[in-house]
Amino acid sequence: MFILPDLPYAADALEPVVSARTFSFHHGKHHKAYVDTLNKLLEDAGETPADLESVVKASAGDATKKKVFNNAAQAWNHGFFWDSMSPTKQTPSGDLAAAIEADFENIAKLKDAFVAEGIGHFGSGWVWLVHEGGKLKVISTHDADDTLPKAGVTPLLVCDLWEHAYYLDHQNNRKGFLETWFDTVANWSLAASQLEAAKTGGEGWKYPAPT
Ligand SMILES: [Fe+2]
Repeated sequence: MFILPDLPYAADALEPVVSARTFSFHHGKHHKAYVDTLNKLLEDAGETPADLESVVKASAGDATKKKVFNNAAQAWNHGFFWDSMSPTKQTPSGDLAAAIEADFENIAKLKDAFVAEGIGHFGSGWVWLVHEGGKLKVISTHDADDTLPKAGVTPLLVCDLWEHAYYLDHQNNRKGFLETWFDTVANWSLAASQLEAAKTGGEGWKYPAPT
């Protein structure tokens, strides 16, 4: 059984960017539903996977496992999203800051690229800062799609573009949500540790192991 991990901060710690009310639905209802549905699908199939990452990778692109993929990937994406945010305002430093300068010139231009990708993404999905081929890139994925099945791609940060992520707090202002998210709650410590994993072949962030 996969678990719904606790938020890594108090539910009101990211206000006003993400309110406790949003978390009560987003974490307590949406994420929980993905985890519960996945557990039921795996139970019905008699499967006891060792980790969530292997479930996502094994079901990606398999039309007969679309429900498993959607719920497994959404469970993983939300776990990574909670850790992509921090109540402590941060700025990139060290190797991460150097990589941002090399690939985007500066943090302001990375923000422009991140926000443009997010507002240009039609419908639901995710906007990511990733490491691929020795470079930092901004990409987006549709619906439940994520980076785990993409060989050579390591996610550094993700922001949820589904309306349930921002509508209660920012209504239809996805641009405003992305701008303040990037400026105030982005977890650059996670991005730095993910970059280190990408460069050294380390494992990187993992969803909690099943119980
Ligand atoms: Fe979400």
